[in-house]
Amino acid sequence: MTAAPASKFKPRVFSGIQPTNHLQLGNYLGAVKRFVELQEKGVETIYCIVDLHAITVWQDPQDLRRATRELTAGYIAAGLDPERSILFNQSQVPGHAQLAWIFNCVARVGWMNRMTQFKDKAGKNAENASLGLYAYPSLMAADILLYHATHVPVGEDQKQHLELTRDIAAKFNHDFGVDFFPLTEPVIEGAGTRVMSLRDGTRKMSKSDPSDASRINLTDDADTIARKFRKAKTDSEPLPESLAGLKDRPEARNLVNIYAALADTTPEAVIAEFAGKGFGVFKPALADLAVARLSPIAEEMKRLMADPAGIDRILGEGAERANAIAQPILDATYDIVGLIRSR
Ligand code: TYM
Repeated sequence: MTAAPASKFKPRVFSGIQPTNHLQLGNYLGAVKRFVELQEKGVETIYCIVDLHAITVWQDPQDLRRATRELTAGYIAAGLDPERSILFNQSQVPGHAQLAWIFNCVARVGWMNRMTQFKDKAGKNAENASLGLYAYPSLMAADILLYHATHVPVGEDQKQHLELTRDIAAKFNHDFGVDFFPLTEPVIEGAGTRVMSLRDGTRKMSKSDPSDASRINLTDDADTIARKFRKAKTDSEPLPESLAGLKDRPEARNLVNIYAALADTTPEAVIAEFAGKGFGVFKPALADLAVARLSPIAEEMKRLMADPAGIDRILGEGAERANAIAQPILDATYDIVGLIRSR
């Protein structure tokens, strides 16, 4: 984590994950694991379950409730402590939607048109996508700037959204002649920032991939994890002597990255250990490591999910703490814009 961009803002970390489907290994290595590391550094950390983002595409209400609780359980099981980090779901803090509206009036249509995630998600039928999906990045900027967050840990796929967040902050500051919103720094570090599909090393591992074999879910049991790694697509060459030898081998490179991220080491160190070994050796070692790291999380998630009311209580308490930070920032924003608050 680099120094805060402007010294007037104290270091504060914010990030979020959508409660859709199950948490997968990419979310864990690219995001949740990093969230825990930042919490352990003692910085102020705020982690959100972005349910308002989830509904930009259709969500069955029952599934949304389940996924929200499951993601909260995943956060806690992976090591986030609701005392030390603020954990809450976005819709319980109204400032997110309120600030997003102001940012809808700051951001330009041309900026939104350049967002690659919108193009990917809307596909060929963009005319039929929800207006919310189009404005998604504006709500994301609001999530971050509502807390004057200085650092945002994410996977590589969120980079463009974070650049847009900086553009929105800069335009707001410029338009109103203030130095009010910080230019937030993305924190995209380590070997797990872009975990790829186990079936195709050129595609990102994703919660929404129709093939369950393409990803490891945090809820998968040990046998399933081992089977998915055993069946993961690879080539027939042994692992090379140096990282350069993985250049045109996306599937092999992906498995090496996953191993490094799980073992808290670098891809170079993994290659040094396994150089010359075939996948018959490497895959079982990877599966064992993954099971050792992920099974305790899955167990703890199951235990937490047995008490949904307890999870809801944690979310409610987190929302209160989040709102206490957000409300003065929202009030000041309204004032800057010229919106009267007389109550
Ligand atoms: P979402 O829910 O798609 O993903 C959550 C986090 O997981 C990371 N991630 C990955 N990292 C590595 N490899 C992968 N295959 C992989 N797949 C997902 C994502 O980069 C992300 O960090 N727009 C965000 C949610 C959001 C948000 C925010 C994030 C809303 N508001 C404010 C940060 C700050 C999203 O869709 O993440």
